[in-house]
Amino acid sequence: MLQDTTPKEPSAMPIPLIDVFAGPGGLNEGFSSLIDAAGEPIFQTVASFELDPWACETLKLRSAVRHYRRIDRVAPSSYYEFLRSGGRGLADLKVHSEMAVGFKEAESEVVCMALGPQTRPESDHIIESALQRHGGKDDWVLIGGPPCQAYSLAGRSRRKGDPTFADDHKHVLYKEYLAILERFRPSVFVMENVKGMLSSKHAGGAIFQSIRDDLSSAGYDLRSFVIPGSDPSPSDFIIRSENYGIPQRRHRVILLGVRHGTTLDSAGVLEEAMAPVTVEQAIGGLPRIRSMVSPRNRDSEVEWRRARDTAWLIAGRSGGRTAPTPDIGAAYLDEPAGDIVGELGDWLLDDRLGGVTLHESRAHMTKDLMRYGYLAQKAVMGERPKLGDLPDELVPNHKNARDVNAPFTDRFRVQVSGQASTTVVSHISKDGHYYIHPDPVQMRSLSVREAARLQTFPDDYFFVGGRTQQYHQVGNAVPPLLARQLGEVVARMFGRKVDTQRL
Ligand SMILES: C[S@@+](CC[C@H](N)C(=O)[O-])C[C@H]1O[C@@H](n2cnc3c(N)ncnc32)[C@H](O)[C@@H]1O
Repeated sequence: MLQDTTPKEPSAMPIPLIDVFAGPGGLNEGFSSLIDAAGEPIFQTVASFELDPWACETLKLRSAVRHYRRIDRVAPSSYYEFLRSGGRGLADLKVHSEMAVGFKEAESEVVCMALGPQTRPESDHIIESALQRHGGKDDWVLIGGPPCQAYSLAGRSRRKGDPTFADDHKHVLYKEYLAILERFRPSVFVMENVKGMLSSKHAGGAIFQSIRDDLSSAGYDLRSFVIPGSDPSPSDFIIRSENYGIPQRRHRVILLGVRHGTTLDSAGVLEEAMAPVTVEQAIGGLPRIRSMVSPRNRDSEVEWRRARDTAWLIAGRSGGRTAPTPDIGAAYLDEPAGDIVGELGDWLLDDRLGGVTLHESRAHMTKDLMRYGYLAQKAVMGERPKLGDLPDELVPNHKNARDVNAPFTDRFRVQVSGQASTTVVSHISKDGHYYIHPDPVQMRSLSVREAARLQTFPDDYFFVGGRTQQYHQVGNAVPPLLARQLGEVVARMFGRKVDTQRL
């Protein structure tokens, strides 16, 4: 084979990036994946701030992996062994000779602390020295959004009449963000939040307008990632993920802030994907697994089959047809994942993995198994019963289950194969009723890996912690593949050409 002797353009220095309220690093993963034609990263994370210790461990692990990808293009084989073992032995991995230097760097990059007025002197000092070390006090990028529970529509309805709501400190956590902008003046910031931020009120005033005024006084213009031009209207900040190749209908407010007087190129906008990506495309190739019957010590395949047969019988009785019943047995975690074609496949799959991690089913009570089997079977037939439409045997024992005006009547929801999924939120860590797998044979809620795929985390992205913490982290994140596209817009503003390959 002939060697490519075309001289490569020398790479510019990476643009320093600081990630605040970093979660498991979804936003960061997208920005960090961008490389130029010479294979050099366009952004380099110099500090990530996060409060949750599990998410911090996830951030450190990923940061260590990136360290080696920057140098050798691949992660060390000990990392893949760790993944194949289902994430056992993190303490050993941290001191393994192949990974120790990466973890050392990660320890200084990931700052596990609560940002807030009391800790501001400490966080300021960390930001100051991180920027100094990376020569970037002028041109750098701030990413991340203050936590959103207080703005979220569900949070607001649950807390109607709660007198502490107006004083919730999360209303004012964005002030920490503002303080960083005022003191350190990044050239660009990207702030993500829930849609409720546009309509939320605090002390009688509209939060969004006051945030906008604050940002303008701090010296920033706001741009939209989807509508070109200056002075966008509030709805122009809403990004609908499903329009950008993400297999999920996640609608979030994402602000692009540009410092007054910067000489950056004007921001382009995101390019819409040619076709929507579906649940089936994202998770259909993963190995089939059997849900466990809870309690786990009483789990048995006989009990599981009984639940399935009953669920299908009930679905058939109410006018349905029955799906075939392949023998799927127990979990096959060592099976390689099926191929996903196109851009999503290139992004998610990793040949070196040779299998799939974090793909185990929760255990479900027999009644829930039956509900899942029944509802998935109905979804195959194009029906979508609400809580109150469930047959008597399956309706939960709630006083108002059949009341059409009761809240959360669609508390059980099957993700439809041929569409993008509904929004994956951190509530998935509490129960899986809203995330029922579309395959009636499997009769279960989504695994962590399936939720991660709908969020477009690559298959080699590992979430540290127990299963609850893993779901929580996945549900909190910005989809990395969307973040990559946001990063491309920002890279172009800095005049950087992005390669199609990833780090
Ligand atoms: C919506 S998530 C961020 C998701 C992240 N941008 C991503 O793409 O993965 C918000 C995060 O803020 C963290 N957080 C909440 N309060 C914080 C504080 N005071 N200081 C630092 N992090 C905080 C939460 O633990 C949570 O992980």
